Parts: sequence; structure tokens; C-alpha cells
Amino acid sequence: MTAKNTSQAPSEEMVPIFVMGERFDVPASLTIQKAMEYAGYQLIRGCGCRGGVCGACGTVYRTPGSYRLEVGLACQTVVQPGMYLTLLPFFPGNRAGYDITEMEGTGEEVAELYPEIFKCIGCNACTQSCPMDIDVMQYMARAIRGDVSGVAELSFDCIMCGLCASRCPAEEVQYNVAILCRRLHGRNLVPAADHLADAVESVEGGRFDEPLQELMDMEEKDLIKIYRDREAEPDNAEDDWVPEDRDYVVSRSERD
Ligand code: SF4
Ligand code: SF4
Ligand code: FES
Repeated sequence: MTAKNTSQAPSEEMVPIFVMGERFDVPASLTIQKAMEYAGYQLIRGCGCRGGVCGACGTVYRTPGSYRLEVGLACQTVVQPGMYLTLLPFFPGNRAGYDITEMEGTGEEVAELYPEIFKCIGCNACTQSCPMDIDVMQYMARAIRGDVSGVAELSFDCIMCGLCASRCPAEEVQYNVAILCRRLHGRNLVPAADHLADAVESVEGGRFDEPLQELMDMEEKDLIKIYRDREAEPDNAEDDWVPEDRDYVVSRSERD
């Protein structure tokens, strides 16, 4: 992360923020991420999707008059006057080593890899810090009870930002416990998806070889045209939406 201050004339309400101790006046409507770029920082780390899904932009901050240490995603949190902040592009978390193919998916296996889960004191600081509104304390309680599928279900939206771990007095790394449980759940505890196996077999059998070769032989301008003309899924499509052209779609009836 590097910075060069700017002297752009303000055209809207400006607020002061302090990035790692240095003051910048930035438009009040900006997110922390955009404000830092406005201030001249080039974000090399601590920046990914810009849409609240990659978890790269964890940030800690304080505001004047409040003793609270707050956390949030820089791409989603709007600046506040006098905010003192710093990015947490990486949080050093304990990550157990394991060979998932050797595991059965039991709670005992999770407890063996992460025995510190039993140190949880139920303070709820993790839940309060989660930008995805996940009930982190509850999934940790499920981990303690050995409910691997329960952890997987509750933690499904985790973006691995690390903010829960940054606030945990018991030094848990909740998101690594959670991703282990989701892996075990997907691999060992849910029925195998027959239609996925069918689709893989169909791909391996050469179903897409010819059309892929046609695409690879096309001129770039023609590729751009068919990409632009493609039938895109509407924003509010129902779950069972399928395109008009179903040449390369395995339909539900074909699967059943
Ligand atoms: S559970 Fe933790 S790592 Fe996952 S999104 Fe919430 S705060 Fe981030
Ligand atoms: S912050 Fe840590 S100790 Fe507190 S409830 Fe969450 S996991 Fe447990
Ligand atoms: S940049 Fe991806 S969550 Fe903020």
C-alpha cells in the first residue's frame, strides 16, 4: 500500500479521516476503500472483489468520542468524520494441516485438529464483528457439540475476512474451523450428486469438444460479438431458469 496525497478541490461535503495516523479530507459518501484511493493510496493488498464477497479488506477503526474498536469491510463501510483506521489485509490465523481424503467427517476429528474450540467463553464478540451477519458464536457452539453439518450450514456465507478472529478473547480462528466443517460436510455427510457425476462423464466423453474447438478457431471480434449477444440469466431469475438455447444444458428431465 503506497500513498501520495491529492489536492483535488472538494465538490461535496468532506470529512477528515486518519489512515494509519495521517489525515486526509475525503468526500463523506465514500466507502473506506474508495476514500483511501481518493487520498492517493494504491491498494495492492487488502482489496479484491470490491463487492463484499472476497473478505480481503478487513479494517479496524475508532471514531471520536467512542471507546469502541470497530471492524468492517473497507469496500462496504462508509467513512465517518474523524475515523481512525487501518486495513487488516491479512490476519495471522492458526490453520491445522490435514488430509481430507483420510477423514470421516466427525466432530471428534474437528476437535482433535482445533482443540482450542473448547476455550470459547461465549462472549459473542465474533458474531458482533461479522460483516456477513453470521451467528459465529452459534456455529462455534455447534463445533463444540461435534455437529459438523450444523457448522457448515451456519457458516455457509463466510468470506474468510478474519474479523471474528481479530476480536476473539479465546484466540479462536473460527473461519478455519468452519471451512474444515464445510469441506467435511460436502465430502462425507451429504449424498453424492448423481447429476454432477453424469455431467463430468458427459464432459469427459467429449460433449463439448467440437463447440470448444469452434470457439478456439474464431476471430476475436466474432468471439466478442457472440459474448455480447449471449442470452444472459436475468438478475431476478427463478431457481429453475434455463436459457432458450439448451444445446449444452443438462435439463432436469434429462437428469431424472
Ligand atoms: S465468520 Fe468470521 S471470517 Fe467469516 S465472514 Fe464472519 S467475521 Fe469474516
Ligand atoms: S469471540 Fe471467541 S470466545 Fe467469544 S463467542 Fe466468539 S469464539 Fe467464543
Ligand atoms: S474487496 Fe472483497 S470484500 Fe471488500
